[in-house]
Amino acid sequence: MHHEVSLITTVAIGFVLAFAFGYLADRLRLPPLVGYLFAGIVAGPSTAGMISDIAIANQLAEMGVILLMFGVGLHFSASDLLAVGRVAIPGAIAQIVIATLLGAGLAVLWGWSFGAGLVLGLSLSVASTVVLLKALEERNLVETADGRIAVGWLIVEDLAMVVALVLLPAFAEALGGSGAAAHAADEAPLALTLAITIGKVVAFAAISVAIGPKVVPWVLGHVARTGSRELFTLSVLAIALGIAYGSSKVFGVSFALGAFFAGLVLAESRFSHKAAAESLPLQDAFSVLFFVSVGMLFDPSILIREPLEVICVVALIMLGKAAIAFLVVTALRFPVPTGLFVAASLAQIGEFSFILVALGLGLGVLPTEATNLVLAGALLSITLNPLAFMVADALARHWRTDHPRAAFGRERYHALEGELARNRQRGEEREKAHALEIQALLDTFPLLALIDERDREELMLLFRPRSAPPGQRVIRRGDRADGMYFISSGAVEVKVARRTIRLEAGAFFGEMALLSGSRRSADVTAVDYCQFLVLERRDFNVFMGRHPGLRAAVNEMANQRRAMNEQGGEQGGEQGDDDPGAASVAT
Ligand code: CMP
Repeated sequence: MHHEVSLITTVAIGFVLAFAFGYLADRLRLPPLVGYLFAGIVAGPSTAGMISDIAIANQLAEMGVILLMFGVGLHFSASDLLAVGRVAIPGAIAQIVIATLLGAGLAVLWGWSFGAGLVLGLSLSVASTVVLLKALEERNLVETADGRIAVGWLIVEDLAMVVALVLLPAFAEALGGSGAAAHAADEAPLALTLAITIGKVVAFAAISVAIGPKVVPWVLGHVARTGSRELFTLSVLAIALGIAYGSSKVFGVSFALGAFFAGLVLAESRFSHKAAAESLPLQDAFSVLFFVSVGMLFDPSILIREPLEVICVVALIMLGKAAIAFLVVTALRFPVPTGLFVAASLAQIGEFSFILVALGLGLGVLPTEATNLVLAGALLSITLNPLAFMVADALARHWRTDHPRAAFGRERYHALEGELARNRQRGEEREKAHALEIQALLDTFPLLALIDERDREELMLLFRPRSAPPGQRVIRRGDRADGMYFISSGAVEVKVARRTIRLEAGAFFGEMALLSGSRRSADVTAVDYCQFLVLERRDFNVFMGRHPGLRAAVNEMANQRRAMNEQGGEQGGEQGDDDPGAASVAT
């Protein structure tokens, strides 16, 4: 049998080496991602070549980007995006334009065509989400206003790149690409291509904002009701990767952007925390492979062959882009420390740059050495990124303490902080309301103290609300059992033989037939306006099956009631309300 194991080999070698070098880097007080990059260099074809299938490594890396962008979306809200848009949109656009022109100028100096320079500049102008997020996480800054601005800025860059990727083939010939490749891609008029692309992106955003928040939580709610963790994790992954893939196919939006919107849609629902927790380990694992694959693609010999070009590229990324970002942020009247922070955050390149270079190469616009230059630029700027943060931190500290204009831009910053805090508060309130609901459930039904919080949450999802006016028969003796009833408010009367038992809020009924598999043993009638939480037969069986303690308590109550009924029957029955039940199982 032919045994194709390149995927397993890539993952295994990638993980093992990344772990070993990541740990080593940590011991040397370097960021672990430097270790991951190094692991890639070691495993890659330019050196030992243990991993031969770079295409697979690239796909795994892309998976890391998708999951990570999904994670970003989960911690973002549409209102956050709008709030930081005022800085991020003009900032990202200005930065892309200026950095692209700088790159073009640089390439022209090397004797490249202006068109090739533009594509090179464009690819150097976008920063990597993976690198940014790792940096923010490490410094615990994801939730701060600075962090939000940087991430918003990146999202705008990503959006711009989606448009660039579509337009590049159309422009290829004008940029000096080989006619055949360029022509094949471009048949429609340029304006139309542009309109269609932007239309698709807008349609995608509109659909995900309009339909997503209804459909996605609905699906997750159903999955959560099954109580299976495995299915829940699977549904989260299916949503993230499914939307990412679907949106790239249908709307031509990038995988990563699709995943970001999938996360954004989920962020508004109360499953966002659970979804984040379930997808985090995978995000981590695959984003490590992202760094490994960058290292693998890197050809160290370029450092000797074209050292000057490499230095120029790195300088453009780390100094040029940082300077532009800083100037734009402060020109928009935000504080100097924010400008420094955003500058450091974006002084690196990554995934989008590789995609653009590969496309430029395919269209014949770029010379082959562009790939190696961009890769060297990525590897070095990623490695040196912590240094950029250190410098930015030091300058910001200096500015805050010593500078006479330290208050510059503070007003705007505080306004943005306030807005983000309000957004966060809304999210927290939603969660608090949910927690209160669960607490109220526990207060009403002491029986539920027998299960832990997670299970109570699951039970909440299983419960179906039902109500009954006074006089309505809720259960008829001899009927088949449909579910177990918890009384949240009101009262019912149970009629067995000649006896009537009153059950009030906090009590439950309808358990006996479910447990024994026989018919209903008594009539139950509402004597007040009642609200019930009903656990349907199937859910009852599954849930009780998983919680033997709860089942035993309910069973005991059923036995007591049965004994009482039998006794009552023997004695010919008597009126009374000596219920062995309402809340006697309280712990
Ligand atoms: P089930 O037999 O499924 O339907 C009727 C319900 O009435 C029964 O479950 C019990 O929950 C409830 N019931 C029966 N006998 C008593 C009792 N003696 N005291 C309180 N509730 C009872």
